[in-house]
Amino acid sequence: MAGNRDNRIAAIQVSDERGTAAFGRRLGKLLAGGEAERPGRRLGKLLAGGEIVGLVGDLGAGKTTMTRSIARGAGIPATTVVNSPTFTILNVYDGPKKPLLHLDLYRIEDPDELEGLGLPDLLSTGAPLVIEWFDRCRTAFPPDVLEITIEILPGDARRLHLRAGGPLSRKLLRALASRA
Ligand SMILES: Nc1ncnc2c1ncn2[C@@H]1O[C@H](COP(=O)(O)OP(=O)(O)OP(=O)(O)O)[C@@H](O)[C@H]1O
Ligand SMILES: [Mg+2]
Repeated sequence: MAGNRDNRIAAIQVSDERGTAAFGRRLGKLLAGGEAERPGRRLGKLLAGGEIVGLVGDLGAGKTTMTRSIARGAGIPATTVVNSPTFTILNVYDGPKKPLLHLDLYRIEDPDELEGLGLPDLLSTGAPLVIEWFDRCRTAFPPDVLEITIEILPGDARRLHLRAGGPLSRKLLRALASRA
């Protein structure tokens, strides 16, 4: 909830974007300081297909919470439970557009283990993909990923660091910062 000081995004940082300072300020204005759900919801709304969102952060940083906000923004109904797919590795949420894929790599120790999961097939579905613990297997994925690092700040707020690794994720980042 807006104004809930225990559950909020305090700051946004962006790297790899031309005109970083102004861009980062604009994005910060739009996404930080309000409801903790806002960044994820905005992002979810923008997902059209093929995007990969990689979430990075310590235990309890808020990766699943962010995934849930993304799912709600993408129109996945509130009746669909969005939790970490710890034992199944992959969850698929049906929604009004394409399904949303949710991977959690916490238990993956070697990127090769993803082979058994049929990663290329997953990527070729064109469904947007959100990955928790993305840093565990960065090399198994194409570089065009919107990587969001969630940092826990004193007082339990969060700082988000956003980095686009290619054209599709850069477009996503720009759209996030646009007023429309
Ligand atoms: N923006 C936020 N501000 C403050 N607290 C938050 C925020 N996002 C999530 N939390 C809280 O942090 C706790 C952990 O959240 P969550 O389960 O989403 O983290 P996680 O990164 O997925 O954890 P894990 O590493 O176990 O997968 C929850 O109690 C949640 O309410
Ligand atoms: Mg989690």
